[in-house]
Amino acid sequence: MPRYRFKDMISTSKFTEPSHEIFYYGDFPNTFAWGTTSSAYQIEGGWNEDGKGVSIWDEFTHKLQSQISDGSSGNAACDSYHRIDQDIKIIKELRGISVGYYRFSLSWPRIIPTGEINDGINQPGVDYYNNLIDELLANNIQPMVTLYHWDLPQALQDKYEGWLDQSGIIVKAFADYTDFCFKTYGDRVKFWITFNEPFITAQLGYGVAAFAPGHYSPGEGVYYAAHSIIKSHAQAYHIYNNTYRESQKGQIGITLNTNWVEPMTTTDLDHIEASQRSLAFSTGWFAEPIFNSGDYPDVMIWNVGNRSEYYNITYDRLPKFTEEEKELNKGTSDFFGLNHYTSNLIVPCSYYPEEGPTYDSDQEACGDGCAEWPPSASSWLYQVPWGIRKLLIWIKRTYGDPVIYITENGISEHFSDGLDDDIRVNYYKNYIDEVLKAIKEDDVNVKGYTAWSLMDNFEWAEGYSERFGLHWVNFTDPERTRIPKKSASYYRSLAGSGTYVR
Ligand code: NOJ
Repeated sequence: MPRYRFKDMISTSKFTEPSHEIFYYGDFPNTFAWGTTSSAYQIEGGWNEDGKGVSIWDEFTHKLQSQISDGSSGNAACDSYHRIDQDIKIIKELRGISVGYYRFSLSWPRIIPTGEINDGINQPGVDYYNNLIDELLANNIQPMVTLYHWDLPQALQDKYEGWLDQSGIIVKAFADYTDFCFKTYGDRVKFWITFNEPFITAQLGYGVAAFAPGHYSPGEGVYYAAHSIIKSHAQAYHIYNNTYRESQKGQIGITLNTNWVEPMTTTDLDHIEASQRSLAFSTGWFAEPIFNSGDYPDVMIWNVGNRSEYYNITYDRLPKFTEEEKELNKGTSDFFGLNHYTSNLIVPCSYYPEEGPTYDSDQEACGDGCAEWPPSASSWLYQVPWGIRKLLIWIKRTYGDPVIYITENGISEHFSDGLDDDIRVNYYKNYIDEVLKAIKEDDVNVKGYTAWSLMDNFEWAEGYSERFGLHWVNFTDPERTRIPKKSASYYRSLAGSGTYVR
């Protein structure tokens, strides 16, 4: 492949023109994997039922209510623990004529209450997922299973400091848990995702403490948490690869979150470099070890690793992989799972001597949305459809043209909003069209798309105040009725036929 320069990508008019006025029609391949998605803590409820262990999100929402904007928790959420039938019904209705996927996550403490397998498993929890998987398959819906979507067993946090642990205990606990899941569910599950958005776990959970477990260590803890997550991911991949792949014939990978980062101006090299740094410190942090070199991106090693001493500006706090670990990390994802929602405009932080829109002292790149980009109910989410196309091209060029599954994409509305969600219809229309352009015009290997989310749910620190669902959920009704929004019928017509409907 010719050497690709980030600069080329952003300075040609082909990429800088917002091109979402142009639509393609009827062009998605028949084999394209359409689906919807959710996660255990956000929908299940049943937080202490039938022997489930406490997770860090149970503890966080119960003890630090003020951290959740509406003071709520996922105690009951959409009550999916008791409502497999209702979930299957709405997934099935969306399925259309294409192959349908449903991406959901397993709750580790529901299966292994303390997180450590030698303490015992929880059979009712194991059965819950057996039933869900069986019901999906009976309805011709393929399960896409995430092993870790943020709900660590609290006992692992209490005993070993969770992902901060560098002794190997947490890596071993995750390895045992994933081995159990492959053994138990792998006859039917053919698509595994080890971690969902490890950047968020590290940064919000162990950096700025906005998410569970609420550990504040922005300059140090973040790097330790990420380090043990990468090692855990690699272990899980090798367990699957060595023991289960041949008999089960599935695939396994990781899901990373990435905003597209547009330099504030494309003529200023500082802006361009800041954008590249920001990508390295977010996606590259995980993708470089897993898809490329086995190690962290060079710019991270320069800024916060052992080479930073040359600048005498910082101290070395980026953990190091051994040579053996680097080999173990390399090539451990059968696909690139991408969660993407929005884009940012980036400048070097020095351009904001007082305070920037957002600020990261390590990557020294500041970014935020642009005032002209249409907003959503989430402060961080602007609608920038062309950003996803640029990002897909960047992933293709940077990580060796991997198979890409878009594992999340979607938009929020306020709690008070109802069924006429034109904003979501337009968002999907525009974003998915850009995905199609990336496939058709830029030859990006995108094989699937799962929309976030199947239904409104517990949106972490925003509680129930933001709705991302294709289905509206009545959270005051004990039945938690799910009602299709306008976007559900739009998505059904699109995913069902692979054809655009204006
Ligand atoms: C990504 C996360 O994986 C998901 O849990 C969350 O609800 C959405 N983003 C929306 O913020």
